[in-house]
Formats: sequence, structure tokens, C-alpha cells
Amino acid sequence: MEPQPDELRMPAGTSRLPAGFRWGVGTSAYQIEGAAAEDGRTASIWDTFCRTPGNVTGGDTGEVACDHYHRMPEDVALVAGLGVGAYRFSVSWPRVQPSGRGPVNARGLDFYDRLVDALLAAGVDPWITLYHWDLPQELEDAGGWPERDTAFRFADYAMLVFDRLGDRVTSWTTLNEPWCVAMYGYADGIHAPGRRDRRAAMRAVHHLLLGHGEALRRMRETGRDGRAFGITLNLTPTVPDSPGACAAADSADAFGLRMFLDPLLRGRYPADVRAALAAEGIDLPVLSGDLDLIAAPLDVLGVNYYFTETIDADGTPVRRGETTGLGWPITPQGLTDLLVRLHKEYPAVPIVITENGAAFPDTGVRDGRVADHDRIGFLRRHIEAVADAHAQGADVRGYFVWTLLDNFEWAHGYGPAFGLVSVDRATGRRTPKLSADWYRDFLNFQRNST
Ligand code: NOJ
Repeated sequence: MEPQPDELRMPAGTSRLPAGFRWGVGTSAYQIEGAAAEDGRTASIWDTFCRTPGNVTGGDTGEVACDHYHRMPEDVALVAGLGVGAYRFSVSWPRVQPSGRGPVNARGLDFYDRLVDALLAAGVDPWITLYHWDLPQELEDAGGWPERDTAFRFADYAMLVFDRLGDRVTSWTTLNEPWCVAMYGYADGIHAPGRRDRRAAMRAVHHLLLGHGEALRRMRETGRDGRAFGITLNLTPTVPDSPGACAAADSADAFGLRMFLDPLLRGRYPADVRAALAAEGIDLPVLSGDLDLIAAPLDVLGVNYYFTETIDADGTPVRRGETTGLGWPITPQGLTDLLVRLHKEYPAVPIVITENGAAFPDTGVRDGRVADHDRIGFLRRHIEAVADAHAQGADVRGYFVWTLLDNFEWAHGYGPAFGLVSVDRATGRRTPKLSADWYRDFLNFQRNST
């Protein structure tokens, strides 16, 4: 027998992960569905944003994306073929409730009903994310997330979905990466809706969290047993490159991590964030009772981890070492450190890694397959990092690879490929990469060793 290339070896240390540990893979609606104007779906802020030249590399849009809306059964088969226990996907708000308020669009919701049933029939647990960035354009026209009303519109929409699918879906995530929604969308203008207004972005932060809290309250009030509710944050830790960079790293930590973790898990915004905002003349629009709602207990905290950033005294990233195709540092140890830190500072909440993965250029095609050893190495090292954190006491209960298919990577368009499966843009044809086989083999190995 040929010796197995070292690159394909299985992660070390995972046999001590608990038996109920969830292994999965994820996607999001706008990135894969396409069918942007079908069955009553209206425009989301991403449809609008993509239409403005210069916003998205190559003028790419999600109009067709991976055509998942029409190829759903085939994609569910791909998910099932990986042997994962869970599939994380998001629901498109403008598909389900085209105006962002008012009546449900039955044809839109039917799609998710069929998806859920197909997953369950294939033995895969559906993990729903209610908001992965595609706000109905009509709500943005009314002010978007900087408006308090949007939080309540979100909760209404959440209930439309929960009422229909809550009988079968047990895992519910309100928001994906509210930091990106607020900062990229409303402060930096590099994501939809493309606004550049820091005050609006800070209002958006609070109203996103409020929307999460209100949706959570209403879903819990239904009294359905055995449902797990959570939120997913993008946590990108920062480390100083020298003692002089400590203040910059602290500030990045305050605005990037603690501004979200503290209200959710401690019931208050960090004092240093409030002071820094006050110095800019910005007040968070917190009304009485908001923080109680936001801090209601979570069953799970979703963590999206891509890298740890080293910064200098000016807050500028210092990127030496290995990077992915997008130039992101490869820092698996940072994931262990983050999970151990969360366990110490916010001990009460179980954690699931809801996203981890990497874009690499598709080099090394062998026998018609993408031989993506770089992705395999990335995944292996991060899975080992999770196992290390668990061995150090972190309450981590799951890991989802980002992502199933090469897809619409937001402002980068279709260039960066994060998928376990490549998609031919002209024909839509799916071809699993070597990493898909590796992940499937790993999950087999894992089943046999725990
Ligand atoms: C986080 C986002 O949730 C996802 O939509 C995106 O594709 C990945 N990061 C990679 O950038």
C-alpha cells in the first residue's frame, strides 16, 4: 500500500471530544441561493449594493450564485455525503417576508420547509440562522438597522419562520456576525448597505442586539421544549506586536469582541467602549429594559473564527507568517487561546464554532479534482486547536466548516474559494475537492474513535 501523504493525516487529540460533539458544514442564503427575483422574493440590501459599480469585485452579484434554490436536493445529497451531523444555513428574509413587515410569502417559506424535510430525511440536523446579512431593501429605505423599529421587524420575521419550522428545527441562531453588519455595512461602507456613518453604525450595533433579544424572548415564550437558541459572533482577537501596541490592541478588543460579548453575557456595554464613544459624542441608544432582553441566557454562543490579528501601535495589521489566499494570517493557536479565554471570562455559555475555513486558490488539480492540501492542513490544525481548548476546559460543543460550496464571497465576488466543493460558474456543476473527502474520512474516523 502507498504510504499516506502526511498532509492527509487525521487531526490529533479529537478522540477526547465528547460523543455529542456536533460536526457540520455551513452556507448562507445570499451567498448560494440565486433565484433573486423568483417566487415573490424582493430585493435585499445586497441585491441593491451589488448593482452599484465598484462595490463588488468584477461586478459580481448573487443573482444566480450557486443556483442552490433550484439545486437544493443535490446540495443536500452533498451535505449528507460528507457524513456531517448538522448543516447550518440561513433563511432569506426578503424571500419569506418581501416587505420586511406584514404577510408571509408562502412560496418563499415553502422552500425552507422542503430544505428542512430533505435534511431530516438525510439524517442531517438543520441549524437555522435567521439573519445572514440580507435585510429587505424596504426596511433599509425606512432607515435600516440604525432605526429601533428594525429590531422589532426582525423579531416578527423570526416568528414567521419559527412558527413554521420550529416543530422540526431544534437549533436557532438569530444573527450572524452583527459586528460585520454594523461596521462594514454602516461605518466602513464596504458591505451593504454601503453607508459611512459611524454614529449610525453604533446605533445599528444596539438595534441588532435588541432584535436578537426580542426574537429570542418571543421564540422562548412559545414554550417549545428542547430548542437551542443562540447568536453567532465573529471574534477576531488582536495581539500587540510590541508593548507600545497594547493600547491599540485593547481598543480593538473592546470594539470588536467585548462590545458584543459583554451586553449578551454580562448585561452591560463595556465602560471603556461607552467612554470612547462619549468622547466622540456618540451615545448608544439604550432604553430601559433593553439590556435585560439582550442578556437573556443563551443556549449556545456561535463563534466564527478565521484568524488572530497582530497589530502595531497605530492599530495597523502586521502580517508576517503564513496567510490564506485572501492574505488572512493562519493562526490556529489563536483559536485555542480564544476559546480558553471565553471559558475564563464568560464561563456560563457553551460554544460552537459556527464557521472556520479558508479561501485558497484552486491550484493542484489532479485527476479532475482540486487537490486542496492547503485547506486540509488549515482545517486539521484548527480542529486540533479546538480539541486543545476542550482539553483545557473550554465548553466547546461543535465545529462547522465554512463552507459547503465555493460561493459569493460578498464584496470579493466569486474570486475567493472557501468551499469543500467547487462549482463551475458556467454550468453549476459541483465537484467535491480533496478536502471534502478528507473531512468525510475524518468524521468516519471520529465516529470510530469516540
Ligand atoms: C463570515 C461570514 O459569515 C461568511 O458569510 C463569509 O463568507 C465568511 N466569513 C468568509 O469571509
